[in-house]
Amino acid sequence: MDKIIIQGGKRLSGTIPISGAKNSALTLLPCALLTEEPLTLRNLPRLADIDGFQHLLNQFGVSTAIAGSRPEEFGRVMTLSATRMTSSVAPYELVRKMRASILVLGPMLARMGEATVSLPGGCAIGNRPIDLHLKVLEAMGATIELAAGYVRAIAPDGGLPGGRYAFPVVSVGATENALMAAVLCTGKTVLHNAAREPEIVDLCKLLVAMGAQIEGIGTSDLTIHGVPRLHGATYRVMSDRIEAGSYACAAAITGGEVFLKHAVADEMDATLQALRDAGVQVEPADDGIKVWRDGPMKAVTLSTAPYPGFATDMQAQLMAMLCLADGSSVLTETIFENRYMHVPELNRMGAHIETKGRTAVVHGVKKLTGAEVMATDLRASMSLVIAGLAAEGETQVHRLYHLDRGYERLEEKLALVGAEIERVGGD
Ligand code: UD1
Repeated sequence: MDKIIIQGGKRLSGTIPISGAKNSALTLLPCALLTEEPLTLRNLPRLADIDGFQHLLNQFGVSTAIAGSRPEEFGRVMTLSATRMTSSVAPYELVRKMRASILVLGPMLARMGEATVSLPGGCAIGNRPIDLHLKVLEAMGATIELAAGYVRAIAPDGGLPGGRYAFPVVSVGATENALMAAVLCTGKTVLHNAAREPEIVDLCKLLVAMGAQIEGIGTSDLTIHGVPRLHGATYRVMSDRIEAGSYACAAAITGGEVFLKHAVADEMDATLQALRDAGVQVEPADDGIKVWRDGPMKAVTLSTAPYPGFATDMQAQLMAMLCLADGSSVLTETIFENRYMHVPELNRMGAHIETKGRTAVVHGVKKLTGAEVMATDLRASMSLVIAGLAAEGETQVHRLYHLDRGYERLEEKLALVGAEIERVGGD
């Protein structure tokens, strides 16, 4: 298997192009199921998860064509046509590899009147149940059956009527599934305490471009008036705020200066505030954000929270950066119960982090040292890359398939700004 080798201690300087958002793309792709007409998505990141989702949609009879970009360019254009569906079953072997597969449940149910999806099961960062996905669909009129590790959702004859549901906790995935089902209901759906992440707004904008009627976009109360059919559209995937935040941490830990081209400051307020609190300079510009550090880093205290709070997907990367801050930072993870797998690996690189339950105390150290490391999830893997960029000596990051799921050509982007980083095969 491939690994990444980093010679640490190089100051990052220059421009990093930020790709289309993985978490947005993975909810925009299943929208193709909602119409017989072609859906064209621009600025799709080149990632293993996107390829996986494309494959899943192909299983249902959705045809996909990629066009319009050269291999050396970032991003792709994909046209998806669900003119004739051949299956409404998402099998275990595909869902197991990619949790986002659960996002076909809502649109498939709305389009076909039924959908069968393998239960995703737990994953490295926690239990990750899907009960809320099922409850909201039930509230909209679906019958849910669970058997042999699969969930089957069935709409009444004549289609889902729609309904009202108040989420007991904010769930990004369940809100996405609910939205994609609600747009084709025969009546009105009202969602309270809905997630309002920028990726949800991106989804709403695409659905509206396809003819959906949604009120309250960007708020936690959404009203969806079902329409009989949606039409095709061409849509550009939003920039990846987590990728941008990750590279901001990378630049900051090296005392560097980078321009995050295409990053949108308004969508990453909490991350930018955390960086500023840590003594990092941040300056939003026309088509991106400039990030640099010329003084010492300071400790910060924060908790992850649903948007507009600090994203759980940024916790590991910020923690890596804070390893070299003055003083002790206190980070609390409120979204997932098991999201500190990077801590022992960072400690092996000389960090001094203690965890107790959902809280991690990061005691700043003077230096990190390179090591062979690996992580069990995507953002944890990125935190090790960030630490490696500032560490003395060589860091080898194993299990690259995690990084390939979520960072488009990571080593190329970091090399562009002066990192000494390479991918080598066979480990
Ligand atoms: C979550 C994050 C999202 C991140 C993604 C990948 C939040 C609110 N969500 O989205 O920012 O990009 O992980 O790391 O920060 N839950 C249930 N039952 C359900 C669904 C969720 O109890 O049916 C719970 C989860 O266990 C979790 C919380 O709700 O504690 C939020 O989960 P959810 O937003 O659904 O997870 P993702 O959509 O994966």
